[in-house]
Amino acid sequence: MKVAVAGTGYVGLVTGVALAHIGHNVTCVDVDEQKIKKMQCGISPIYEQDLEKLMHENQERLIYTTDYKNAYKNADVIIIGVGTPERKDGSANLDYVYTVCNQIAESLQQDCVVVVKSTVPIGTNDEIEQLLRDNSAKGINIYVASNPEFLAQGTAVHDTLYASRIVVGVEDKRAEEIMHTLYKPLTLEPYNVPYLSTSRRSAEMIKYASNDFLALKISYINEIANLCKKLGANIEEVAKGMGLDPRIGNKFLKAGIGYGGSCFPKDTKALHWLSTCNGTELLTIKACIEVNKKQKLVLLNELINDLHCLEGKTIAVLGLTFKPGTDDLRDAPSIDNISLLLDMGAKVKAYDPIGIENFKNHVHFKLSNDGVKGTIDYYESIDETITDADAVLIMTEWPEIVNYEIGNYKKLMKEPRVYDGRNCYPLENTKEIIYSSIGR
Ligand SMILES: NC(=O)c1ccc[n+]([C@@H]2O[C@H](COP(=O)([O-])OP(=O)(O)OC[C@H]3O[C@@H](n4cnc5c(N)ncnc54)[C@H](O)[C@@H]3O)[C@@H](O)[C@H]2O)c1
Repeated sequence: MKVAVAGTGYVGLVTGVALAHIGHNVTCVDVDEQKIKKMQCGISPIYEQDLEKLMHENQERLIYTTDYKNAYKNADVIIIGVGTPERKDGSANLDYVYTVCNQIAESLQQDCVVVVKSTVPIGTNDEIEQLLRDNSAKGINIYVASNPEFLAQGTAVHDTLYASRIVVGVEDKRAEEIMHTLYKPLTLEPYNVPYLSTSRRSAEMIKYASNDFLALKISYINEIANLCKKLGANIEEVAKGMGLDPRIGNKFLKAGIGYGGSCFPKDTKALHWLSTCNGTELLTIKACIEVNKKQKLVLLNELINDLHCLEGKTIAVLGLTFKPGTDDLRDAPSIDNISLLLDMGAKVKAYDPIGIENFKNHVHFKLSNDGVKGTIDYYESIDETITDADAVLIMTEWPEIVNYEIGNYKKLMKEPRVYDGRNCYPLENTKEIIYSSIGR
């Protein structure tokens, strides 16, 4: 099939490459010329395991372009995978999605299924279908399918090819048939992905309800962890004991410094906003959002309690990205922590194996009332980062950090004081250092 994908971010590019891999001819469209140039040279603009390899393997079925008109005009299927960031009030900003819809309407010359993969509020697909039908050339049949994405950054390629499920929300038979043809290879060996057909509104809700449930699970275990620490229980033993119950399951029960990333923070806020607007406020999600906000700073507060004044203190921050395996920094706990450290006049030494360039380019700290007082410097090795530091804050469980020789904290720091937001080290290995972690 001829497929066009709008947006070459984590969702769009991975989807496009995966569809090329199963035999479709895919044109990936983006407004960002730099990204397109990179991809035309075979370079992935984002870091995802195996992505570049698959781009190379399937290059004869992949085109990268900013020319949306040519890409959309004869496509059988157009997949929308642009961002839906949060607005100030928490609602989803659909500007990028609607821009693409207008571009599609302006370009289409044949019947087409427009697939909405971006996470959008319930009812958006109905509006998009109306908009496309109202604004496209007469005589063209346009169907809209909701096809939410469930990939996780860091394992996006694997999650797409071996997905937990493909959810397709459609309102008519023709769209259903085309969507089935599009995804058929993934439902067969070796992928065997379950395919679920639903109404469009249910598909839209499945995405939000799934993401918010996972965020809720994380906030729940984080609160239990904080209580464990007060009461002398160990969250790892507790989570293991809970996870053995198949009704609970052992995934997303790892306590830590809070969730971040491009999805959980905005999707919890968007669903909460939607529920409030519809007079059925989701109180569980409201609590989940508040818990996460507090959790991000739980160890920094401990550090402040322990050292009192951080002005002029050297604080090493290990890990900047919101999780390992990605260069994405959106809503990463490191940002809130570093921002406060700078406000308090600390000298921050930051380390990340992948995320430093993104951090330098995209994270800008607001000046506090009397101006940012601290400083931040970046390092490529953990040894350099922790040398002469007064304390270490661990924000991301990169393997480089998890496998780091604990003895070096004692050797290289002024005082071996480690606040571990990801429970990287077994407690029994930390006896020689001053060590604080989550829920243990
Ligand atoms: N990132 C994830 O892990 C993930 C997982 C599931 C669902 N989602 C959802 O998928 C959507 C996309 O997320 P993402 O993380 O891939 O976004 P992203 O920010 O990484 O990528 C969006 C891309 O769209 C491009 N774009 C903007 N306007 C465009 C236009 N008019 N035409 C073509 N391209 C355009 C941008 O330049 C950018 O490259 C969001 O709704 C998100 O909630 C994301």
